[in-house]
Amino acid sequence: MALDGRTAVVTGAARGIGYGYCRRLAADGAHVVAVDVVDPADGVRELGGGGDHLGLVCDIGDPAQVDAAVDTVIDRYGRCDILVNNAAVFPFTDLDQVTVELWRAVQAVNVEAILLFARAFAPGMRAAGWGRIVNAGSGITATQNRDLAYLTSKGTVHALTRALANELGESGVTVNAIAPGLVATEGFLGRDRADRPSAEEVLARITAMQTIRRRSVPADLAGALAFLVSDDAGFVTGQILHVDGGMTRTGA
Ligand SMILES: NC(=O)c1ccc[n+]([C@@H]2O[C@H](COP(=O)([O-])OP(=O)(O)OC[C@H]3O[C@@H](n4cnc5c(N)ncnc54)[C@H](O)[C@@H]3O)[C@@H](O)[C@H]2O)c1
Repeated sequence: MALDGRTAVVTGAARGIGYGYCRRLAADGAHVVAVDVVDPADGVRELGGGGDHLGLVCDIGDPAQVDAAVDTVIDRYGRCDILVNNAAVFPFTDLDQVTVELWRAVQAVNVEAILLFARAFAPGMRAAGWGRIVNAGSGITATQNRDLAYLTSKGTVHALTRALANELGESGVTVNAIAPGLVATEGFLGRDRADRPSAEEVLARITAMQTIRRRSVPADLAGALAFLVSDDAGFVTGQILHVDGGMTRTGA
């Protein structure tokens, strides 16, 4: 299979888009390391595909826990070939209510953890002359969504993706981002607040912006990931790939 012998680390892997990525990577032959603040063990047991899979409980907003997860991966597999920085938090953050503490906590998980994992695994990728880093971007930066800390973090992820591509382009390591539109995951559906449109209303509004007018599910993103981590995508780097049913076709 395409990813036989490759080790893939996926953050935010216990549910949602991240678990969908794990399923696809496992089906394509990779050893999958599922990293999540919630124990991903149940999902890991179901992965199949023949790889040597592992679940790691880790709060990626805590650099010490990231270091420990990295050490575990290196000890067991030697290196990480494919890093999927998928985890993110998206609390409501209005301008008049957001605190500096909450702002920093969002950037720590959504942005800084990408840097920490990339910095830790890049030497092994460079030495191997092959590596793939795929970050979770977002097309939602193109909508009227008002979550200050989240929107800033995702804009930064897009910039960080290009900056990391600059760093690693000479060594066979590509860095790209997948930008979903709106996906009906547990994380999104669970974030209703009385003074905001309901999750269902937002889904209806975003779906109407798409040319493909159905709700997106995690499986819609998995094919894009499979391509970006393949040998076929070896000349694709620094890109933000919008996988959103056409939501951002007018530019983002
Ligand atoms: N769902 C969408 O509509 C949508 C749209 C655009 C972008 N995205 C991005 O896709 C990614 C996945 O989104 P989702 O909808 O599947 O989210 P989700 O909330 O359903 O899943 C996120 C996972 O990340 C984990 N996580 C959260 N904080 C963590 C931490 N500190 N350490 C380790 N793990 C942590 C959670 O436990 C959860 O398992 C995110 O980066 C999100 O920003 C999602």
